[in-house]
Order: sequence, then C-alpha cells, then structure tokens
Amino acid sequence: MESSSPAPASPSPASPASPRPPVSPPARPEVESLQAYSAPLEGRRGLLRLDFNENTVGPSPKVVAAIRAIPPEEYAVYPEYDGLREAVVAALGGSGLHPEQVGVFNGVDAALHAAFHAFGGPGDTLLTTSPTFGYYTPCARMQGMAIEAIPYRLPGFAFPLEEIRAALAAPEPPRLLLLCNPNNPTGTRLPAAAVLELAAAAPRTVVVVDELYEAFTGDSVLPPLLQAAAAGGGGDPFAAYPNLLVLRSLSKTAGIAGLRIGFAIGAAALVDRVGRVTGPYDVNSFAVTAALAALADQPYVDAYVAEVLRARDWLLERLRQAGVRHHADGGNYLLLWPAGGAQAVEAALRQAGILVRSMAGKPLIDGSLRVSLGSGEQMARFWDAYRRIEGLAAG
Ligand SMILES: Cc1ncc(COP(=O)(O)O)c(C=O)c1O
Repeated sequence: MESSSPAPASPSPASPASPRPPVSPPARPEVESLQAYSAPLEGRRGLLRLDFNENTVGPSPKVVAAIRAIPPEEYAVYPEYDGLREAVVAALGGSGLHPEQVGVFNGVDAALHAAFHAFGGPGDTLLTTSPTFGYYTPCARMQGMAIEAIPYRLPGFAFPLEEIRAALAAPEPPRLLLLCNPNNPTGTRLPAAAVLELAAAAPRTVVVVDELYEAFTGDSVLPPLLQAAAAGGGGDPFAAYPNLLVLRSLSKTAGIAGLRIGFAIGAAALVDRVGRVTGPYDVNSFAVTAALAALADQPYVDAYVAEVLRARDWLLERLRQAGVRHHADGGNYLLLWPAGGAQAVEAALRQAGILVRSMAGKPLIDGSLRVSLGSGEQMARFWDAYRRIEGLAAG
C-alpha cells in the first residue's frame, strides 16, 4: 500500500527552510574563555625525563610486587579507601591525626581542582605567587575567580611575605591562598612557622600549602603541627588552623605518578568539603594498592631522596665551575639559563634523548630551563650532553 504522507524534503544547505547545522551548546562562560591545561606529556617513554620532576627511576620493587599480586576478581569491585587513610596517618606518625583528616585524590591535581571547586566562586579571589605551579590559574579561572599573583623578589626569588601578609589583611580577604612550598619552579622555601602565621592571620581564607616537593628539603608544616599535638596529649593538630589544607603526593618521590594518587590533609570539616565535589570512586584500586605498598616502604623513598640530593650537589659543583648561570633551592629541580637560548638547547637535549622544560614566557624566569634532578648517573648523562651543546669544558 502506498503511503499518503509526503516524501520528506531532502535537506539542502541552500534552502532557507533547512535546519541549521548542529552546533554544540556553549559551556559556562568561564569555561568558554578557558584553554585546556596542556603540558607536553606525549612521546616521553624511553627518554631521560628531566621535564616533570617525577621520580626518575620508578617505584620500589615492593610496589611492583603488590600490583602484580592483585587478583583479577579485585578489578570487578569498587575500591575502598579507609585502609589507605589509616596508612597515611601511620606514615605521618600522627599522634592526634585521624583518618577523617586525610582526603584521597586522583593525584594532587584532583585535590587542587576539588579545593577550588568547593571554595572558589565568581567574584572570589585567589591569592598566590608568581611564577608558580601552572595548574592553579586554570582552576581559579574555571570557577570565575579573580587572581592576585605576587611576584617573587629578585634577586634570588625570595618569598614576598610582606605583600602576602598585606593582601590577606585586606577588608575583603582572598577566598583561597595557594602556597607552593618549596615553590615549583623557583625552589623558594617558606619556613613552616611563616605558613602557620599566614594561616592564623587569615581565618576567612582557605590556605592551601602544596607540599609536593617537601621531601627533598624537609619543608613541611606537618611535623610542627603533629609534634605540638603530641606534646599537648594527642589533641587535634589542626585545632588552631581549621583553614589549612596540606597537599602531598606519591608522584615525585615514590615513583607512581602514572597511577595518580595524592592526599589533602587538614581539619576534618575542610577535608569533608573538598571531598564533597569528587566522585565516590575517583581513585582506582591499583593506585590504592600501590600507595599502601609505597607508604610501607619509606626506606626506598629515603634512599631515592638521598641519591637525588647527592646528584644535586655534584651537578651544582659542575655548574659553578663552568660558570653557568643557575638557580637552585628546594625541590628536585633547578633553573639554568643556557647561553645558546632555552628553546634551542631544549631541542638539542631532546635530540640527545633528554627532556627538560623551557620556562619561556614565565614571569621572572623567561629564558631559563627547568631541569629535574634524578640519580647520579642520570645527572652525569645530562651534564655531558649539556656541556657539549653549550661548548663548555668537561668538569
Ligand atoms: C607543585 C605541584 N603541585 C601539584 C602537582 C601535581 O601532582 P600530582 O602528580 O600528584 O597530580 C605538581 C606536578 O608537577 C606540582 O609540581
């Protein structure tokens, strides 16, 4: 039987009656004006990775064994986190610290994102320093926040303490203060007492201390807080600092950057708020198992840190002898200003199989390269390639 309905009109772009081509709906205005945070993370396998400050030799064999031992039926079950929170408390030796004061995240990047999501809104201000870790800015922008970034002080990239104190004392204080300590990429170190002073002076501001590199120079607010709590009979270490959030990761020392695991430690109410804006199972079971094994093998991490610090001394001596302009302070990285130009030397090093990070366009350090520090052997390989490219005598 023939259909009596008219044949559908064939869509013609020329026809004025034709539907418009589909257009994706716009995102929130803050997202429309945002560029995706992109880092040169592709094609790094097999090269000497001195570009992202990761552990350069890999995890403890005990971590590898723990991952291999995961039975396949575990893959089918959603992960559990209570044991990991308890392990973090035990690893920190935390008398008075409780598992509710530890948030588990998919890397510290996810903890940062969640902290901004939980506390920052349109019209609020992020106070931070410049130059610093690049992910704080997009996190603030996606919340519609204003950014006040105070430059480090030249020469030597000293922390701008007076300016930060003054900004915190403004009639409308910033919603968030982001302190990267030691700072990536300048290595600037802020004593724990100064961090605590800033947090105490600004109770309406959430003070986030990003301590990703504390292991290399021992710059952390946690030991003094935990010691004071223990001396006081095991009370809450964050009782006087309910606005302080401390970030730690297993990417830079324990060698599991690829598994993505980070912690946010602070008052239970603060950790709870940050945890409210994540999914219930954002951290996967492999990361949990690896983190438990890594936390249980502190001697491995200590040995790696000691090796990096020995290699740092060796390289610094070569740089001094060769008269290379450089800057090194906290963290497992340093800055170099190559005579041959940062971009050209970065490219030549890549040709030699070595990745470093150009700081082109970054305030105060434009023209420098950030070089991550690894083992003695790796630093010797770096120095050999660098001095050849720059035409420097063997040191
Ligand atoms: C200062 C700082 N914070 C956070 C991160 C992110 O760490 P994670 O690997 O735990 O996400 C990095 C990584 O480079 C960093 O340098």
